[in-house]
Amino acid sequence: MMQQYLTIKELHKDAILFFRLGDFYEMFFDDAVLASRELEIVLTARDNGDKKVPMCGVPYHSASNYIAKLISRGYKVAICEQMEDPKTVKGIVQREVTQIITPGTVLDDSMLHDNSNNYLAAIFESQDVIGFAYSDISTGEFWVTEFCGNDALNELTSEIFRLRPAECLITPGPMDNKWYEKAFENLPNIFTKVKSAVFDIDSAAELLKNQLGLEADQELELSSSEIIAAGLIITFLNETRQNHLRHIKTINHYHTANYVEMDASTRRNLELTSSIRDGRRDGSLISVLDFCNTAMGKRKLKRWLEQPLMNIEAINQRLDAVEEIKTHLILKDQLQKALVKVYDMERLAGKIGSGIASPRDLIALKLSIQACSKLKEISAQASSELLKNISKIDLLQEAVDLIDAAVDDDPPLGIKEGGIIKKGYSAAIDELKKLSQEGSQWLIDFENREKQRTGIKYLKVSFNKVFGYYIEVSKSNLHLVPLDYHRKQTLVNTERYINEELKNYEGQILGAREKLFAMEYDEFIKIREELASYIDRIQALADKISDLDVIYSLSEAAYVNNYVRPCISRDKNLEIKAGRHPVVEKHLLTSRFVPNDIRMDNDIRFAIITGPNMGGKSTFMRQTALLILMAQMGSFIPADHAEIGMVDKIFTRVGAADDLAAGQSTFMVEMVEVANILNNATRNSLIILDEIGRGTSTYDGLSIAKAVSEFIVQKIKAKTLFATHYHELTELADELPSLTNLSVSVLDSGDNVVFLKKVLPGKADKSYGIHVAEMAGLPAPVITRAQAILEGLEKEKAPGKSQHILQQQLFDDIDPVTEEINSLDIDSLSPKDALLYIYKWKEIINTKK
Ligand SMILES: Nc1ncnc2c1ncn2[C@@H]1O[C@H](COP(=O)(O)OP(=O)(O)OP(=O)(O)O)[C@@H](O)[C@H]1O
Ligand SMILES: [Mg+2]
Repeated sequence: MMQQYLTIKELHKDAILFFRLGDFYEMFFDDAVLASRELEIVLTARDNGDKKVPMCGVPYHSASNYIAKLISRGYKVAICEQMEDPKTVKGIVQREVTQIITPGTVLDDSMLHDNSNNYLAAIFESQDVIGFAYSDISTGEFWVTEFCGNDALNELTSEIFRLRPAECLITPGPMDNKWYEKAFENLPNIFTKVKSAVFDIDSAAELLKNQLGLEADQELELSSSEIIAAGLIITFLNETRQNHLRHIKTINHYHTANYVEMDASTRRNLELTSSIRDGRRDGSLISVLDFCNTAMGKRKLKRWLEQPLMNIEAINQRLDAVEEIKTHLILKDQLQKALVKVYDMERLAGKIGSGIASPRDLIALKLSIQACSKLKEISAQASSELLKNISKIDLLQEAVDLIDAAVDDDPPLGIKEGGIIKKGYSAAIDELKKLSQEGSQWLIDFENREKQRTGIKYLKVSFNKVFGYYIEVSKSNLHLVPLDYHRKQTLVNTERYINEELKNYEGQILGAREKLFAMEYDEFIKIREELASYIDRIQALADKISDLDVIYSLSEAAYVNNYVRPCISRDKNLEIKAGRHPVVEKHLLTSRFVPNDIRMDNDIRFAIITGPNMGGKSTFMRQTALLILMAQMGSFIPADHAEIGMVDKIFTRVGAADDLAAGQSTFMVEMVEVANILNNATRNSLIILDEIGRGTSTYDGLSIAKAVSEFIVQKIKAKTLFATHYHELTELADELPSLTNLSVSVLDSGDNVVFLKKVLPGKADKSYGIHVAEMAGLPAPVITRAQAILEGLEKEKAPGKSQHILQQQLFDDIDPVTEEINSLDIDSLSPKDALLYIYKWKEIINTKK
């Protein structure tokens, strides 16, 4: 057996081999050492000739939890099963690897998240184009695109960051693969290098056509790099033995240019799906918009949010639907009540397609489709295009009828122990069921007969899995036991027997049960197979229903949060009246959010925003980006009124993020991002710059900031918001007519400063940084000293002359005792405390000497 193990292991060196031995999966050698550490299970040893081999194991029925753990830590698991029944084989049972589970190919519910897709991606690089494909095998969606030109790598990177695939296949391409490591440091462990088996276009095309069920002479209408990238995915699925993926039936071609482009750092900065601070969903835009009732709705909402549209008709269609539901409260309520009854049909279709659906999954599918019929009815009353379309959904009557007729309404989870098939569906199954029910009556009769015959009062006929049927007699009655009883088992107070009649019965009934289970199993598999022919229709239905759920969610968000419908246009104008930050407004506990306006058009396209720290500059700029993004995804927005000229790309350069691991300094990272913006932004883009240039010396920083601003205003002409503490930059407004100054206002009454968070035209002259530092709790002497330095600097005006001030001795040597005396509230001291202080001071003074 060890030899068999080694032969199989040799073929799966890069995976942990789960080797089936009876009721356990065993691991040996290094796999055992690794698994015992990762899974915290006991490491034992197995005799192998004269040596001992490290070994550990997990029970097969609870293996999926252990596998999930290993997969989540980036390992692959190869499952090796017994291909024969050990009872019927002499010698070594034949074993084979039936499945290799990797992060991108998991299908088990316990390893998937409801709210997000689990993508397997593939990148194929050729000389000048990059083919890119991805699929979620739990739902069957399959997408492909390509990138070319100078910006190809950037576009690929932002797609990867949008999708965050669980696994990404890469090939040894003409480009040095090192850039992967560099570009994707934050996503370690996702890359799997594949061998170069299918890189020719013909075999890739054949594989793909096979999977999609196309004839050999049908065109794929994809480019060759796209076909190869998609082919890589199919090959990988075949290699990992995911052969029966009948739900991967269509491949969708897409262009990233059809959606608003955002690079990785912009997605992160805008906190679309997770917050920067702790990476959690709470505090992100999606958390305030998500009122979805279904898991597939939640996943689709994420997709809409990460791919805002650039097609005005499509955006307005969504907005029309959101508006209709938002204003018709009864409609909204009815939709919600029906939507919550819909299960994850996408993944149910996936389970049917990959042959792992349980009887309960089929019932869930039936209930979901029935709920959809209600949704169809409701949306038929609607007048907006998108909702009217939903009333045309196909309700798969045949599939529902089949499940309804065949599958018991409350079936077990497993498929091997009967209880699945409904009465009346199969005469043969009903007959066997009757037999086993009659059997129970027979047992009752038998028990009564035996009681009478033997005169034993305590006599019971029962069954257990190990001993089968038996007659149980209490010890006090043993003298009455007849001769035809044969002892089977002795317990403390009872003896268990069998006799000829019961043995015969056992043979019959167990045979019947086994037969019944086998028949129910076979019938169930047939039903499941038959349902597989409806997969594309189930997927189409799921797609429409998830759209509906997202529309519902956006309507509810608009209703609850008081959003308005934005007016979308193709011109360059931007006008938001009383806009609010959708996330910050939800998280303010003690104060109210102060709404702000913004206006930009052909003449004014660039705003420099100055004003105090904590004044609300960053919030205002992000809010502007978020509102545009929400509008283009088809959502209402937090404002009183908004005209939004569509943008093609959004760029943000916000805050300083150190990237020390990559060997890049704060300033370097910042400049790389700014370079990316200047090279890729267009006239139709939105650029948010938050304090660029501050990571270097004042003069360098100011010069860069100024040059960047000039370049954007004169060359790129993108809509830009630039927050800065370089007040010198405000002078640019005198030179450049399309540049304007905004500032966040402050109420400064000398001693007291109040940040009003109101953005107004004009420039600010002070930063109030020291005031904020004081609020933050910097020690009083530091604040006093900072104030003195600031006054000195302001007198000298030019920043360059500040050197000698800064190099003065920074702090008078403040005596800690004096300090403490000053800060003491003497009136509130008890005499004893006062005495203790004096002792302490004396000690300090003595040690100083
Ligand atoms: N319009 C607003 N209404 C109410 N509170 C706001 C508003 N804008 C911002 N805030 C609150 O003020 C805090 C500081 O805002 P923000 O970070 O935007 O200031 P800032 O001007 O960018 O400061 P700095 O110059 O230090 O970067 C925010 O965390 C938020 O809680
Ligand atoms: Mg800021």
